[in-house]
Amino acid sequence: MPVIPASACAKTILLGEHAVVYDEPAIALPVSNLRVSATIQPGIGLEPGTVIIKVPGLSLDTDLKSLPPQHPIAISIQATLDSLGIHEHPTFRLRLTNNFPLGAGLGGSAAIAVTIARGLSAFLGHPLGQAEVNAVAFRSEQSAHGNPSGIDNTVISLEKPIYFRRTHKEEIVKAGRMFSFLIANTGISKHTQDVVGDLAQKRIEDSEIQKIMHEIGQVSKEGRGAFTSGNLGKLGVLMNENQSLLEKLEVSSNELRNLIEAACSAGALGAKLTGGGRGGCILALIDEVKREAIEYALSAAGAKQIFAFEIGPQSAR
Ligand code: MEV
Repeated sequence: MPVIPASACAKTILLGEHAVVYDEPAIALPVSNLRVSATIQPGIGLEPGTVIIKVPGLSLDTDLKSLPPQHPIAISIQATLDSLGIHEHPTFRLRLTNNFPLGAGLGGSAAIAVTIARGLSAFLGHPLGQAEVNAVAFRSEQSAHGNPSGIDNTVISLEKPIYFRRTHKEEIVKAGRMFSFLIANTGISKHTQDVVGDLAQKRIEDSEIQKIMHEIGQVSKEGRGAFTSGNLGKLGVLMNENQSLLEKLEVSSNELRNLIEAACSAGALGAKLTGGGRGGCILALIDEVKREAIEYALSAAGAKQIFAFEIGPQSAR
């Protein structure tokens, strides 16, 4: 059997994180230049059924039997085998690498799951289609995040911009123009599961939380129009509005606010946290001519990493 390469992109949430858990709409974008990549090789010389897993980005160098069965990587492998109807564990070596930070709100756990589903199914001679890959990744996300909306695995397995509601089929949305974005990392890693769990508790205690979730959903609805009609200014304003609402949910942080403030002062059209929050990354919508100035301001404000990406009409193809 040959060495099988596979990969999956990162993602950002343009509008609507957290509210999307409560069936409000959100918009998510793929980041195709940021990827998790896998190589899968036959396990020559290993005991039958042995799976060696190396993930330097997670400091993981182990065999599958030593991982807890609920570990998202173990779930991704098992769910892929279940999807293929394979009951005996194949013997292989899996190596995963990433060129973006994991645990930073960029969809690392879903990208790992999608990469495994794609790579392992190809290695076994039956490449899974997008819907099956998505289902595998959702199972893995459930063990990583507890109550995921499914937006991360869906945008990553499609690698297209989506308008997403938990109880509806996702819609691929076509950008009305080329949009340029910067992602800046606070360097603070937070578990999305913990932030989602905190909000679930607060929502029970405080009826205001559900109202804010609904307002975020309205911002996403308006954002869809701004995105598809190519209204740069309006989209920036909506990102800022979304950030104010996320502040009210108390999922922001000083480090995130510093980066958002730096981006906006240097001319970003809008900026907000992206993903679970309380750490991780911000997303800024920019005009290309201001890119250097904004990158400089973000570095000066303490950004640990900065990534640029674009979304245009062709991203929906
Ligand atoms: C994570 O990318 C987005 C959250 O809304 C969680 C989820 O939708 O599962 C915070």
